[in-house]
Amino acid sequence: MARPHIEPFVERNEDFKKMTMSGFGKGMHYKMLSFDTDTGACTMKVRFDSGYKRPPGFSYSEVEMFLLKGTLKYGDTIYQEGHYFLIPPGVSMPAMSSSRGCEVLLMYNGSEPDFVETDIDHDYADRARFAEVNSYQGMPWMAPAVNPPRTATGCLLKVLKYDERTHAMSFLYILSPEFWQDNISYHDCAEESYHIWGTSWMMQFGDLPTGGYFWRPPYINHGAFACKRGTIAFGRTDSELFNHFHFNPWSNAKENEERSVSRLMHRNPEIYNWIAQRDHNHPHPQDFEHPDDHGHSHSHDHDHGKKK
Ligand SMILES: [Fe+2]
Repeated sequence: MARPHIEPFVERNEDFKKMTMSGFGKGMHYKMLSFDTDTGACTMKVRFDSGYKRPPGFSYSEVEMFLLKGTLKYGDTIYQEGHYFLIPPGVSMPAMSSSRGCEVLLMYNGSEPDFVETDIDHDYADRARFAEVNSYQGMPWMAPAVNPPRTATGCLLKVLKYDERTHAMSFLYILSPEFWQDNISYHDCAEESYHIWGTSWMMQFGDLPTGGYFWRPPYINHGAFACKRGTIAFGRTDSELFNHFHFNPWSNAKENEERSVSRLMHRNPEIYNWIAQRDHNHPHPQDFEHPDDHGHSHSHDHDHGKKK
């Protein structure tokens, strides 16, 4: 079971809880925004109290962090609001501290939060994937032209992470004042958003204010959209984002998925035919170019590729 649908959720209505897992030290508090009960992957809003300190160390999970408020020091560098970090598994970060306290979005993508104290990378760490950027200051806004059909004018983004293998993205985005889009949207990917500032409206879920959050599984209708005074938000997808637009507010997720499959049949018939073969509707690691993938443990004694 992946993460359940959480929408709308407003974290400002909830209290912080004390982080008690070992390794994280004193002065760390969290609000759980979404949580995968199988893997432990999660998104949290975290407050580090003034004077918080942590020694150098790494996580066994990929970690993303977005600095919402205050300043944070890693090693000798003090980072400001809007700073984004992508920390691959096993990459050791220098000592961390926050003299006046700060708030961050903290995401563990592969497994539950953990911290191993060390100033040496794990043997299998891929340090070349480490990335950090101040998303408020450092990058130009772009129209979301990656995957047409496109959103209405007035939605702009900065792509902070793009996974070439899964096409998952993390991005900062804005909706301009008086933004509106009159159609209904769904995707083949899960979609996540945290409102850093501003209120936007969706027909199905109403107003989502500052501190608003959602984790939305694939094929769930959302939209029409409107935003009166502008919104800045942090968003993510877990795979390729394709905008399926329509005008039927009554379609359910199953029907939306079937419509998407029908589109795939026309757009990419070879892949459709391969998926549609009975007994071969799931990937096998050996079918792909990434031999390290061993996520499927069920037996494979059926005859691959045999049409029935
Ligand atoms: Fe969407």
